[in-house]
Amino acid sequence: MKKLFGVIGDPISHSLSPVMHNRELNELGIDAYYHPFHIKGEDLKTAVEGMKVMGMNGFNITIPHKTAIIPLLDKVDPLAEAIGAVNTVVRENGLFVGYNTDGEGFVASLKEDWKDDLSGEKTLIVGAGGAAKAIYYTLLSKGVHQVDIANRTVQTAKNLIENQPYQADSQALSLKEAEASIGKYSLIIQTTSIGMEPDIYSSPISLQGLTPGAFVSDIIYNPGETQFLKEAARYGATTQNGLAMLVYQGALAFEKWTNTKPNVTRMKETIQHCLGGTSC
Ligand code: ATR
Repeated sequence: MKKLFGVIGDPISHSLSPVMHNRELNELGIDAYYHPFHIKGEDLKTAVEGMKVMGMNGFNITIPHKTAIIPLLDKVDPLAEAIGAVNTVVRENGLFVGYNTDGEGFVASLKEDWKDDLSGEKTLIVGAGGAAKAIYYTLLSKGVHQVDIANRTVQTAKNLIENQPYQADSQALSLKEAEASIGKYSLIIQTTSIGMEPDIYSSPISLQGLTPGAFVSDIIYNPGETQFLKEAARYGATTQNGLAMLVYQGALAFEKWTNTKPNVTRMKETIQHCLGGTSC
């Protein structure tokens, strides 16, 4: 029987996940379909119950339901539980099990695009919102302990550090403090929305003093090269944009649902094609 996957969110029409997953399912000859569902907060419980009884095989969860879905699931993976957000549900022996592939996808992309052993990297995360939390907790859970967090509201960064359940060697910094010590980081991850369309000339911090050869990632994918990444490249960094996180979180979900490794390069091309103005 054809398998059914999907994504739930509010809004949902902008999501690039359906085209990314459907193309990959087709290319790999997997008899399945991935559909976007527009679900409002007040309907979330009914929607999850409905998907369960209708035999849905798995789904993604996007804004604003990633936290609210947790009590509605049968089981939640410990990392997703710690992060407090689920973006992927897998039907396992009839039960809905929640995972967070945002952080894991991001870390997988670092290993692919940069280096496999990240354990000794002196890391700076800029921002302390939901995306930063997923990346921070996942890095710690994988043994990357030296991770500082810089945020406009320093207390929010402090809260992330104080509440993390892993082993960490972390400091909360103001944006100015991060700028002043930028040269000591080998890995810098920008997680705020600053620099996103239409505000493309803004950047959260200056990278003057960056050590050449550092790896700088920005989770924004539109524009493809933010002001932050442009500056990083000027100072001799290797850069990565947000397509990596988008594609790898999807690739990990795809693999959990189908037990098949998708072609990540092709998934990236699909998204790039859609972002290039083609209607998808
Ligand atoms: P997400 O879930 O996508 O990570 P979020 O939880 O709303 O989004 O987090 C947004 C992050 O961007 C926060 O770190 C926020 O800083 P504050 O905690 O001080 O609000 C940061 N951010 C957003 N707009 C900003 C701005 N204009 N200047 C500096 N930081 C900003």
